[in-house]
Amino acid sequence: MSASLATVAYIGAIILFILSLGGLSSPESSRRGNLYGMIGMTIAVLATVFGPRVTMAGIPWIISAMVVGGSIGLYAARKVQMTQMPELVALMHSLVGLAACLVGFANYIDPMAALNLSSAEKAIHEIEVYIGILIGAVTFSGSLIAFGKLSGKIGGKPLLLPGRHFLNLLGLLIVIAFGYQFLHAETISAGMIALTVMTVIALLFGIHMVMAIGGADMPVVVSMLNSYSGWAAAATGFMLNNDLLIVTGALVGSSGAILSYIMCRAMNRNFISVIAGGFGGGAPAKKSGGEAQPAGEVTAISAIETAELLRDAKNVIIVPGYGMAVAQAQHTVYEITQHLREKGVNVRFGIHPVAGRMPGHMNVLLAEAKVPYDIVMEMDELNGDFPDTDVAIVIGANDIVNPAAQEDPGSPIAGMPVLEVWKAKTSIMMKRSMATGYAGVDNPLFYKDNNRMLFGDAKKMLEEVLVALKA
Ligand code: TAP
Repeated sequence: MSASLATVAYIGAIILFILSLGGLSSPESSRRGNLYGMIGMTIAVLATVFGPRVTMAGIPWIISAMVVGGSIGLYAARKVQMTQMPELVALMHSLVGLAACLVGFANYIDPMAALNLSSAEKAIHEIEVYIGILIGAVTFSGSLIAFGKLSGKIGGKPLLLPGRHFLNLLGLLIVIAFGYQFLHAETISAGMIALTVMTVIALLFGIHMVMAIGGADMPVVVSMLNSYSGWAAAATGFMLNNDLLIVTGALVGSSGAILSYIMCRAMNRNFISVIAGGFGGGAPAKKSGGEAQPAGEVTAISAIETAELLRDAKNVIIVPGYGMAVAQAQHTVYEITQHLREKGVNVRFGIHPVAGRMPGHMNVLLAEAKVPYDIVMEMDELNGDFPDTDVAIVIGANDIVNPAAQEDPGSPIAGMPVLEVWKAKTSIMMKRSMATGYAGVDNPLFYKDNNRMLFGDAKKMLEEVLVALKA
């Protein structure tokens, strides 16, 4: 493929990526957005593999690597449960970071990479290598820790080392000092020493940064690492002189940064405080699933009583959370919704921005169950409507409906906006036990007078409610 044809293909791919991001901004157009992204990526890969910078001798190597990588990816994607998706995404971000590091080192020791460069160009090239490896290493280790935290292999409690801000600052100063040495290194081996020291510090910083973040703030970290992986890819693009990689990386980096900002706003958090760590933990933070301390009497309710309350209701709001995803209860939820709507009940869904374990998690599940988009509302759109709601059903959600966020300034989730289900005439919490949610915080909603607990697996209980409703 000629250089100009490859450039045209790259421009086509870039346009498709931008259209893809535009499509992903709303549930109606998201399928189309995904399709644009897939076509764009296919064009990008073909134009790169058969482009002017790959020799014929290299093609079998690239194709073998693609077959191995593609098979692993295909296997992982088929095997992964929907609830494990965020972990898989975190793991993939780590691979982008690792790739940026490896490309950086390879680029530095490659005698051809800096051939025929003026001294200014050589300095720029070395800065690209240094910054590329720096971002890549932070992304790699940070994403691995995020994977551990999201999969429950590492506890959600923040690790707060004494003098942690000082440690971070010290790390930054050492990275700058070694950066200076790297740029002035006389030999490749001297440069390699500086690069290696910086990489170790960047890896430690990535671990420290994510370890210091509390369970409730993980959504911000995931989107932030998503952004870093974009910048790591852009840095790789600079090292390889690949315009497509630069633009694609910048698209991922900036959209991840915007998502982090939206997440912070949704959780009423200051972005800098989240990155500096230590937020979202607090004293009572426990691993997800831990038993909450009893703080009053709870009133249990049966599936039949739930069906009676629903039958008498005019307005119902359903608040889904992570437990709905675990139980795969979205289809039964929709069957109940259809039944109630046929009887003239106004049923709407209230979606919290960080419900579940990844941005848009609940929207994806509800779309899969074919719930119409016009009854799926964002938190801000219906939070004022709870006082006029007869029944609010919380399906496997916990942190996102926790009144402690408003009532207890000492709570680790204090200040986070929540769905005010307790303002409905009756709220029903559907979960298996009294266990806490992801943030490990006790939920005073359980003990409110107008709250009822429907204990059991969400899918099983909803099926019982549906049978009782139809009876
Ligand atoms: P959580 O607060 O984690 O609560 C989920 C609840 O579902 C649990 O308390 C659990 O209680 C229940 N549950 C689990 N399996 C169930 C099943 N089979 N049937 C019925 N209930 C089940 O979830 P949430 O309210 O959706 O809040 C999300 C949390 O995750 C927030 O803290 C958020 O910060 C964090 N987070 C979000 C993201 C994104 S981007 N959305 C990413 C990382 C972390 P039982 O064990 O008693 O059943």
